[in-house]
Order: sequence, then structure tokens, then C-alpha cells
Amino acid sequence: MQISDFQLERYFAVHEFTACYLLSASDCEALSLEELLGLADGETLDLWRGLKLSYTESQGHPLLRAEIAALYDNVSPDDVLIAAPEELIFIAMNALLAPGDEIIAIAPAYQSLHEVARALGCSVTPWPLEHVAGRWRLDLDCLERAIAPRTRLLIINFPHNPTGYQPTIAELQAILRFAIRHSLYVFSDEMYRLLEYDAADRLPSVASLYGQSLALSGLSKSFALPGLRIGWLVVRDRALLRRCIAFHDYTTICNSAPAEILGIMALRAAERILARNLGIIAENLAAAGRFFAAHRDLFTPLLPAAGSVAFPQLRPDRPVADFCQPLPHRPGAGQLPRSVGAGGELSGRAKSALRHLPF
Ligand SMILES: Cc1ncc(COP(=O)(O)O)c(C=O)c1O
Repeated sequence: MQISDFQLERYFAVHEFTACYLLSASDCEALSLEELLGLADGETLDLWRGLKLSYTESQGHPLLRAEIAALYDNVSPDDVLIAAPEELIFIAMNALLAPGDEIIAIAPAYQSLHEVARALGCSVTPWPLEHVAGRWRLDLDCLERAIAPRTRLLIINFPHNPTGYQPTIAELQAILRFAIRHSLYVFSDEMYRLLEYDAADRLPSVASLYGQSLALSGLSKSFALPGLRIGWLVVRDRALLRRCIAFHDYTTICNSAPAEILGIMALRAAERILARNLGIIAENLAAAGRFFAAHRDLFTPLLPAAGSVAFPQLRPDRPVADFCQPLPHRPGAGQLPRSVGAGGELSGRAKSALRHLPF
């Protein structure tokens, strides 16, 4: 397989652990191990203390799959495969697609949502998000025009990275009616689900609405635990799920034993973790609002409706890579205190450092 560089990951490989101030992270400020253990119930603490570091069940720990299934309507623990989120994108595309297949994929998007299919010999038609009058929107009419003879899969991602766009339930239903009309599978990346700022905007998972779907989620974003490398794929089509499970035998086979137990703790403490993360995001959105109001000449803010990422537009007409590549090395950047992600906590020191960003 010939696969192109994952540009964002290559950028992070250079800067993520050396830049003093990180504004491009997509996850919420990570919880510490101690914080997570502090949220654990008695049963999971016993599992943690007695844990044997052997191989684990390849589909995922039964208790963890039960906690995951409980997040959804119409989903059983047997519909769930647990692996790292990025790995599950790779597994799903390999299990589903063949060279010559055509896919329609929301754009922009986390690169592997397009790239793995392309590397497998599929052609990818982007379905672009547009911004109109300061708001993001998707043109549903584009979908019918994008259909080709071998279109097999539609890839969506709500809440969307990087824009924080969230469709209405009526729009999601229209998208699924389109998939039904054309007998398409739907890969629904729901990594930012449960981070809706207004609970009324929360959509049901596509896994609960449509049988020919693969719904991806995990602990990296909404649960602030990217270092656990725990994600899950919900696939109610049993034949397809079996193919995903069989492909997993050629990637990591099974998950890290400690990560699975920590994952059970996290899901049992879901309400407290989500409330903490939404609190941090609310504070940061207010700070971002003030920042953008002071720099109207440089940015169009385009604030998100959900998730821990925003995608403001840089107004001066120049390639964004030219803007962000040298930024960590500009004079002054070295005095900044430490890395803080988009959904990260802005300490008092970091807030004052924000004023000195070299714009
Ligand atoms: C939309 C989306 N999907 C999937 C992933 C992959 O998650 P992970 O990095 O935890 O494997 C990411 C990570 O940034 C993402 O933003």
C-alpha cells in the first residue's frame, strides 16, 4: 500500500512536544492517571489492583464493551470492536472497500478519513463544508451530484473536526435517506459526540439509526484520555463486524490491558468528565470570543457548535502553512509557559502569554 504522509501528524511530530504554546491540539486537556483513579468505583479499582498484564480479548474487554453499548440506543456489547481510534479507521476501510470503489467524504476532514480509502485504490469525492455569513453549512444537494456508479460509502463526521459544525436532526435524517436510496454504507466519525455545548443539539448516533453503518468514537477527545488509545467501532452488520475483527488480528490483535480497565473507569465517570471538559471549553470559548473581537482585521472567527476544535479563517490572503510553520520559532514564543490545547485549560500564566502571541 502506498499512502501519503499524514500532514497534520507530521506537523505535530515536529512541534507538539517542543512548542511552548500549542493552539492546534484537538483534544481536551488530558486527565492525569491520579485524577482518573480518583473517579473510579470499587469494582474497577479491584480490577486495576489485581490486573494481570496478559493479552486481552481481541474484540475488547466485555465490561468495557458493556459500558460502551450503554451509551447508545439499539446497540449491544456484541456490536462493538475496541481498538485505537485511528487504527479503527484503517481497519474499517480495509474491511469494507476494494480498489475501484468510490466514496463520498466530508471535507475538510481528519486526513485518514480520505487517505486510507485513496491508498486502497478508491476514488474520493469530497463533500465540502462551506461558510456562509459566518456559519458553516453543508449543501445536501451536492450529495446527489456526487453519486457515481461504484459509490459504496459515505463518510461523515459530526460534531465535525475541524469546524465544530453540527447538523440538525432533520439534516442528519436527510443524509441517511440519501444513503438508503443509494444502498451506501455510512462511516460516521463521532469522536466529538457528547461535547455539544447545548445538550439539545446532541444527535443520536448513526449506529442507532442506520443498520449499514460503522460508528467510530473513543476516549481521546470528549473524555480527555488520548494516551489510553482506546476507541470503538459500533457495527450492527454482523458479517462486516466479523471482517473488522479479523482484520484487527493483523494490526494490534488486542488492546493494552491497563488502558481497558482505565477506560471502564472513565465511562463509569462519564458525566463528571464531560462536565469538566465542557466547563473548560466554555471558558476558552469566551476567551476566544474576546481575542477574535480584538483582531477582526486578521480573523473571521467561525466559532464551533460542539467539540473542542474551532476553525477560524485567517483573513490576509496567504497560505496557512506559511503562517503556522515558523510560528513556534518566532522571537517571544520561547517565553511562553507551556503547551495548551484548544480544549485545554488556560492557566492564568497561559492567558497572559496569549496576549503576547506574535500576530
Ligand atoms: C475526527 C477524528 N477522528 C479520528 C481521530 C483519531 O483519534 P486518535 O488520535 O485518538 O486515534 C481524530 C484525532 O485527532 C479525529 O480528530
